[in-house]
Amino acid sequence: MPAILPRAPIRDEQMKDAHAPPVTTELLVCVKCRRGQEAPEDDRRPGQRLYDALCAKELPAGLRLTPVECLQNCDNGCTVALRGGDRWTYIYGSINEVSQPDVILEGAKLYHATGDGLIPWRERPEHFKRNCVARIPPLTDNPAPEADKT
Ligand code: FES
Repeated sequence: MPAILPRAPIRDEQMKDAHAPPVTTELLVCVKCRRGQEAPEDDRRPGQRLYDALCAKELPAGLRLTPVECLQNCDNGCTVALRGGDRWTYIYGSINEVSQPDVILEGAKLYHATGDGLIPWRERPEHFKRNCVARIPPLTDNPAPEADKT
């Protein structure tokens, strides 16, 4: 079972943004991704570098960063996931920890602005269009249809 590590705090100024939707968006970042590289155990892996690069940037309002130890997309890391509220969850892979932190934050900002998690196709960053590993529907209170008992 992958461990969930301590979270980076939401910055105070982000909490005060009156235009941000009330729901927090969580950006999960796998800090164990190797991105196909051999890295010594004591070295920072590409996933950790991606997380550190994101932490060093100003986060869009309402976004919380959470490091995790594996999102089960190890062969196609670096890997992140976007989730929060009653919205679709998206998992993205093949992220370059050096050149793409800004792309991830731009995508997270667009995701946060949605009510359902669906960024209009034309607005999606190219990397999101081509590297979506999976999407998961929001939790629903509707009961599942009864299974066919015949
Ligand atoms: S090590 Fe990053 S998804 Fe498994």
